[in-house]
Amino acid sequence: MNRPVLDVRDLKKIYGEGEATVHALRGVSLTVERGDYVAIMGSSGSGKSTLMNILGALDVPTSGTYLLDGVDVSRLADRQLALARNRLIGFIFQAFNLIPRTSAVANVELPLAYAGVRARERRRRAMAALDMVGLADRARHEPNQLSGGQQQRVAVARALVTEPALLLADEPTGNLDTRSTEDVLAVFDQLNASGRTIVLITHEPEVGDRAKRLIRLVDGRVVHDVRQAPVAALAGRHAR
Ligand SMILES: Nc1ncnc2c1ncn2[C@@H]1O[C@H](COP(=O)(O)OP(=O)(O)O)[C@@H](O)[C@H]1O
Ligand SMILES: [Mg+2]
Repeated sequence: MNRPVLDVRDLKKIYGEGEATVHALRGVSLTVERGDYVAIMGSSGSGKSTLMNILGALDVPTSGTYLLDGVDVSRLADRQLALARNRLIGFIFQAFNLIPRTSAVANVELPLAYAGVRARERRRRAMAALDMVGLADRARHEPNQLSGGQQQRVAVARALVTEPALLLADEPTGNLDTRSTEDVLAVFDQLNASGRTIVLITHEPEVGDRAKRLIRLVDGRVVHDVRQAPVAALAGRHAR
């Protein structure tokens, strides 16, 4: 049997102590298999960011176990943790986080440069990733010459160029209008259809509806974890 991409057991996260103690996660367990597409929803303060930070190996839980692609990240030292993070996870943020005054293709190449991939190979793989998000013809454009939706698609290309086990997105459409949201969701649909594993956080029901599986957090607990029927992209929206 294939190992799951994520295998999380009884995660707890406590911030502070004494009077100021906050139980941000109260025992979260979940498994995400390769090829799944999961949306995590919940109101403000329900523990979404705390969970994302732990899933992304940016923070450690107070207790519980966490296997990322079979690797027990809670046992890794900082340097190994950073390596595991770079190798296994592609991050997508609400604010895009592209490098300004730097072309789209150079932005997408960056994680490969960190990984020591040679220039020619970097360029080839970055162009292939831009092609996957429908932006091969914008490779030379700098972020301020691109729309918000295009910038986020460049960020998606950057996240997938290293071929990570997991794409992890924190409110990826939070800064986008309806049309750009649809463009980014269409890219996620297509990436998932070609086998990529996606976990995203969102406040927006129409974004959550597009995932194959919806997890709802309330007060640090999973109260709802269901498979959903595919939703077709809304008719009449423009295609990329
Ligand atoms: N660094 C921190 N120190 C203390 N409390 C925190 C910290 N980060 C988050 N919290 C608390 O943990 C709970 C969950 O927060 P968070 O994970 O940010 O929720 P969400 O992203 O769903 O809004 C909240 O009560 C929040 O105030
Ligand atoms: Mg949050």
